Amino acid sequence: MHTSLSQHHSNAPHGWPEGALVYQVYPRSFQDTNGDGVGDLPGITQRLPHIRSLGANTIWISPFYPSPMADFGYDVADYCDVDPRLGTLDDFKELMKEAEANKLRVFTDLVPNHTSDEHAWFKQSCASRDNPYSDWYVWCDAVGNDSSGNPLPPNNWRDALSGDSAWEWSPQREQFYLHSFNVHQPDLNWSNPQVREAIKDVMRFWLTLGVDGFRVDAVYWMAKHPLLHDDSINQEYVEGEDLKYEALAHDNSRGWPAVYAYLTEMADVLKEPQFQDKPRFMVTEAYPDRHNALPAYMNFYASVDPAVAAPFNFEGLTLAWHAAEWRKFLKSFHSALEQFSARCIASYAFGNHDQPRIASRLGEPAARSAAILLLTLPGMVFLYYGDEIGMKDVPIPTEFIQDPAANGDPKHHLGRDPERTPMQWSAERNAGFSDAKQPWLPIADDYQTHNVDAESQDGRSILSLYRLLGNKRASEASLLHGDLHVLDIENDEVLGYTRTSDGTASDFAVFINFSAEVAVFEPTVQLGKLVVSSDPQSELTAVLPDVITLRPHEAVLCYLA
Ligand code: NOJ
Repeated sequence: MHTSLSQHHSNAPHGWPEGALVYQVYPRSFQDTNGDGVGDLPGITQRLPHIRSLGANTIWISPFYPSPMADFGYDVADYCDVDPRLGTLDDFKELMKEAEANKLRVFTDLVPNHTSDEHAWFKQSCASRDNPYSDWYVWCDAVGNDSSGNPLPPNNWRDALSGDSAWEWSPQREQFYLHSFNVHQPDLNWSNPQVREAIKDVMRFWLTLGVDGFRVDAVYWMAKHPLLHDDSINQEYVEGEDLKYEALAHDNSRGWPAVYAYLTEMADVLKEPQFQDKPRFMVTEAYPDRHNALPAYMNFYASVDPAVAAPFNFEGLTLAWHAAEWRKFLKSFHSALEQFSARCIASYAFGNHDQPRIASRLGEPAARSAAILLLTLPGMVFLYYGDEIGMKDVPIPTEFIQDPAANGDPKHHLGRDPERTPMQWSAERNAGFSDAKQPWLPIADDYQTHNVDAESQDGRSILSLYRLLGNKRASEASLLHGDLHVLDIENDEVLGYTRTSDGTASDFAVFINFSAEVAVFEPTVQLGKLVVSSDPQSELTAVLPDVITLRPHEAVLCYLA
């Protein structure tokens, strides 16, 4: 029996964002073509056929702009150029051309909340309190001096990477500037209309070069308490255990309602007449409150035109790997979207360059069933480079740690380097990533077996599973834009749902065993043939029985009869 849950827009597809498979490239780690140990734009161009082989229709490239690399590109020194270590603007244009030839759309990464302290705007802003850029950043007088005579910052806000004060004293201006991230990433002042116009011009620059849209960085921080009130204390914080940043609740340093007005201005750029030659779209990065995610997602859809924008859905990163949690979430989220507007597009990411890798979080068998879940969910789904070959977090020896966030993690001192290691292409030296003596981050120990070449030869590999699923998603109407119905399966460990559309298209069912035990259940719907199991040892054959037995962590995709 179906629950009364569906998305009624199978007859009104939104175009490419609906059903999209977006492949995230972290450019420093994808493919190095000039032997400096750092990946580059020509490397991405060279590897587009791999991305295409997954059935992806879009790529998102993390920042490649000129940057001192204090936060590996998220500290942008010039929004409209390419860092020389990663290539040139001509290389970008070539990448765009080849992407089109491979039928791939391109999202670039837009970082509106902050620049690098090397950006010309900031250098100007620092110079005096009365120049054309003086109000482009968040400046504040000291509120007094400590016992040693050092200036005191206006509030308790913390830098999200180090967990130390988010305020830095500028001896030049004799004022503090705010940096919600690294000390080299000063926050832009979004209440200044000139700043907003400047960022919208950056968007126009890339849209004119043909990009299909943006992944927008750290949007909650764009709007903070106008009177700079202290953040509340996080009562659940465990000192020495949690990230230092988690000591506060961040209720005033980010997430003020003006954020939606700012994002609406940005969304309006995507709708300008000169960019209507093709549909443009943006996906925004904002991690909702873990205990209360739904209202945050819905607030976004209600506030920014869903025809051109969607918030990332991060449940694949934060929700416990339990069938009951997923049932509850999928039911409530998709029925809320349906009730609100058929125009809303879900936008699921199960991994990214800031989070431990999925194969390390869940283990190999569950990472394979997560592939079935991700690639059969409605809306846009994001695949982080390397997850398709089951890459794991790589332990980084202390002397190789690069990420400034490692300092904010008192327990593990790891930061985000483990999930950013070079892509494993082959069993050759440096996994085929680079000819350099030493790539910028170490290569995983398992690269001789876990690499694209080896896994391409093995029909049972996770790569073969991803390729099958991605291509199925790309070619089946019901997976691209069909309804989602969560099934009432009488087994607490199993999530089951269908993807169906009107008309003659094939419909599908998915069943996932979230437990490490065998699971037996009745599917509650008439099944046709098995498409694929996540488990190479699966005992299921093409013709499925009336009572299904799934192996530990096994997931299946099958046709509906
Ligand atoms: C989110 C990005 O994904 C992360 O890598 C970066 O450090 C911060 N925003 C600051 O830009």
